Amino acid sequence: MNITVLSLFPGMLRGFFESSIMARAVKRGLVSYELVDIRDYATDRHRKCDDEVFGGGAGMLMLPGPLGAALEAAGSPAKRTVFLTPSGRLFNQAMARDFAAERDLVLVCGHYEGIDQRVIDTYVTDEVSIGDYVLSSGEVAALVLVDAVYRLVDGVITGESLAEESFGLGLPEGSDGRKSASLLEYPQYTRPADYASMPVPEVLTSGHHANIARWRLRESVRKTLAYRPELLAAAGLPEEVRRLLREIVIEGGSREPDTEDPGRAN
Ligand code: ADE
Repeated sequence: MNITVLSLFPGMLRGFFESSIMARAVKRGLVSYELVDIRDYATDRHRKCDDEVFGGGAGMLMLPGPLGAALEAAGSPAKRTVFLTPSGRLFNQAMARDFAAERDLVLVCGHYEGIDQRVIDTYVTDEVSIGDYVLSSGEVAALVLVDAVYRLVDGVITGESLAEESFGLGLPEGSDGRKSASLLEYPQYTRPADYASMPVPEVLTSGHHANIARWRLRESVRKTLAYRPELLAAAGLPEEVRRLLREIVIEGGSREPDTEDPGRAN
C-alpha cells in the first residue's frame, strides 16, 4: 500500500512512519509513504496557505489553490482521498478494512477552521472523523487512521493477532470474510502467575485449551456488556454468545468489581 499524507506540518508525522512496526513494514516493502508539505504548492513569496472565511466567522480556512495543486500532484481524486474532519463519517474497524484494501491512499490533514468546500467537492472521496471531539490538527487524526489501516495490510501483522483482538474477536465470519459482530478483547495476563497477591485466573494455567477458549469468550462478552453494550445489539450474534450473555445478565455480571466509582460508566 502507498500512503500519501498532505499536511502543513509534515514534521508531526515523520516520527510515526520512521518508528516501530510501521518502519518495519516500510523496510519490508509492504508500505510506502510520502509526506507532502502543502506549503510547497503555495505560489506567493510568503507561502500563504490560509485566508478568512467568506460570510464571516472566527478562524481561517486553508486556501483552495495550494491544497488543490498538492492533491492534483498526489493523483486525487483517482486515488481514494480521505479528508480528516470532525464533520466526517465516524471511523471504525470496517472502514479501516475498506481502506486497507486500496493500493493507494491519500490523506488530507486540515488545519485552522478546515478546507474550502470546492476542494472537498473536487478531490475528496471520503470525509472521516475519528471521534466526537475536536482536535487542533488533522495530523493526529490522520495518524490514527493510518495506524488502524496499515496494520491490516497483508503481511504487516500475523493473522492470529488480528483475529483475536477487539473488533475481530472469535465470532463467525460471513460469506464476505467479515465478522458479523464484534466483541471487546478478554483480559490477558503474563508472568508472574501471582502478582501483588493477585493470582492469574486458574483456567489460564490449566493447559486445557477448550476451557481457556470458553473462559475468554465469556470474559469478552462480560467486558463488552459492561463497556460497549450497543455492540451486543448488533444482528448476527452467535447462539453461544447470546447464551453467555443471558447467563451473565442473570448473574448480574455486567458490572465490574469496583463499579462503586461514580466516574465509571456502566
Ligand atoms: N480534525 C479535528 N478534529 C477531528 C476529528 N475528531 N476527526 C478527524 N479529524 C479531525
